Amino acid sequence: MPSMKILIIGGTGFVGSQLARGLLQANHHVTILSRGRTRVPDMQHPNLATLIADRRSESAMRNAVGTRMFDVVYDMVAYRPEDSRSAVEVFRGRVGRFIHCSTISVYMVSYEVQPPITEDQDRGALMEFFPRNPFGMTYGVDKRECERVLWDAHHETAFPVSMLRPTYICGPGDPSRRDYFWIERMLDGGPLLVPGSGDYAFQSVCVEDVAQAFVRLLDVPRSTGEAYNIAGEEIFSLNDYLRTLGRMLGRRPELVHVDQDVFDSLPFSTSPDGDVFTFNTRRTAVFSLEKIKRDLGIRLTRFAEWMPRTIEWFLKRQSNHSIGYERRGEELAFIQAWKERTSARAV
Ligand SMILES: NC(=O)c1ccc[n+]([C@@H]2O[C@H](COP(=O)([O-])OP(=O)(O)OC[C@H]3O[C@@H](n4cnc5c(N)ncnc54)[C@H](OP(=O)(O)O)[C@@H]3O)[C@@H](O)[C@H]2O)c1
Repeated sequence: MPSMKILIIGGTGFVGSQLARGLLQANHHVTILSRGRTRVPDMQHPNLATLIADRRSESAMRNAVGTRMFDVVYDMVAYRPEDSRSAVEVFRGRVGRFIHCSTISVYMVSYEVQPPITEDQDRGALMEFFPRNPFGMTYGVDKRECERVLWDAHHETAFPVSMLRPTYICGPGDPSRRDYFWIERMLDGGPLLVPGSGDYAFQSVCVEDVAQAFVRLLDVPRSTGEAYNIAGEEIFSLNDYLRTLGRMLGRRPELVHVDQDVFDSLPFSTSPDGDVFTFNTRRTAVFSLEKIKRDLGIRLTRFAEWMPRTIEWFLKRQSNHSIGYERRGEELAFIQAWKERTSARAV
């Protein structure tokens, strides 16, 4: 493929920096637009340029971009419809492809979905506002709105949009540290509090696969006007995930299941950002990979391959505790009391 001029809005982040590396390796010329607060230490390359702007200001983004034209723009940090609207305004007529980073949360703000969820199930009626939606309620609604702005631009003015909808993105460097929540608790040897039955199926995906899929879109012109789910092949229940992670860590964790409504009342189960306990999906969250495999020929990395690398990364590089760990003592005391209560009930 000939070298292309590519802009990544928000290209210094977890996914964006992997994407930049992938594009540079494929010999493209990459410009990253960010506010200049986050440094990516090992990313220096003769084909890499940077622009500084806050994308939330349309005029700042317009001034930073100037008269440049791009073959491709990736938007990694559109979270509100205004973000996508201003991107359409700035890049209309001067971009060959506009690739938006969406999310499976656009489905999970509706109950009108049938797993495995296919890409055409993105318009189900919104559920009533549920602040503890594990996929982010406001986040999911706003990301849907971003998509709507882009699809409108696509249909009305042929704005050349494609998008990926990733599930939980994990792997080495994950700033949300979802896996580390369980890794750290397993390693302390205490029992694990599992919200609900732990039976709901979910998928995660490793960051390298998401970056690879973003790059792959460029090879497939017919992906313009299309959205694609991306998730790992493995479908885990939380119970299966914890047992598998335990085997990788050489541990056999005791799983203590706590009724979901009791869990919801526990002060340490929530934070201003939502549920503290990760992968508590509260419902099945499985996504069809048929379309991305058919159109993009994606091969997904096995969990057994990427998770050991992720564990190693967390154990070497993570000096902070996982989310909520400062209240682990309360967690353990509750688990003990719950076990006593439920065993008394069973007698
Ligand atoms: N993590 C997941 O599980 C998950 C799942 C599905 C979809 N997604 C999607 O993945 C995308 C996030 O990608 P990521 O993980 O690479 O992001 P990230 O780690 O949050 O990094 C975003 C980068 O963009 C820059 N940035 C942030 N706000 C900006 C602004 N207003 N103007 C200019 N630059 C800005 C930041 O650098 P500066 O601080 O220097 O500006 C930052 O390094 C989102 O679209 C999200 O919806 C994530």
